[in-house]
Amino acid sequence: MSRQPKLLVTQKKINEAVAKLAAEIRRDYRGKQPLLIGILKGSFVFMADLIRELRLPVEVDFVKLSSYGSGTRTSGKVKVVQGLKSPIKGRDVLIVEDIVDTGLTVSFLMNYLQKKKPASLKLCALTDKTSRHRVPVTIDYLGFTVPDKFVVGYGIDWNEKFRHLRDICIID
Ligand code: IMP
Ligand code: MG
Repeated sequence: MSRQPKLLVTQKKINEAVAKLAAEIRRDYRGKQPLLIGILKGSFVFMADLIRELRLPVEVDFVKLSSYGSGTRTSGKVKVVQGLKSPIKGRDVLIVEDIVDTGLTVSFLMNYLQKKKPASLKLCALTDKTSRHRVPVTIDYLGFTVPDKFVVGYGIDWNEKFRHLRDICIID
């Protein structure tokens, strides 16, 4: 396996996508105070940029889920490793995710959060590997579709490595 990251999406293109997503979210949540729930750890860089572009009085929380071991493919079983600190009943909740692959993680989280009766529940994902979905997923706000390759950078890791890269890159 070559671990030399190859450029996929530049920092500039990421910034433009984040600004576009923020504009759509701002328009849709005008007059509301949404709770953004990031999925740890991969979403933290995206979340940090997104909330500053939003210019809305948002609140932020994080959940930690696991489905991966140290490999590059999902185990298929999703668990909550660290739950929410905020009650979400009656809140406008927006999930913030770095990458949707099989869709198992976000679909599990959608079901889990829906049971807690939020006023609304939507999904914002920076990247999506559409060709790999194994369950139906609706991404309300999407940055980029990416190929069926392992991507890293901009918070997204491979075995905790490469999160610091400013661009989104591919490793084979
Ligand atoms: P899913 O449950 O298969 O949709 O996987 C989603 C999670 O797997 C994401 O939140 C990522 O943490 C991780 N993941 C999926 N594909 C990649 C990738 O290409 N690079 C890094 N992490 C990935
Ligand atoms: Mg993730």
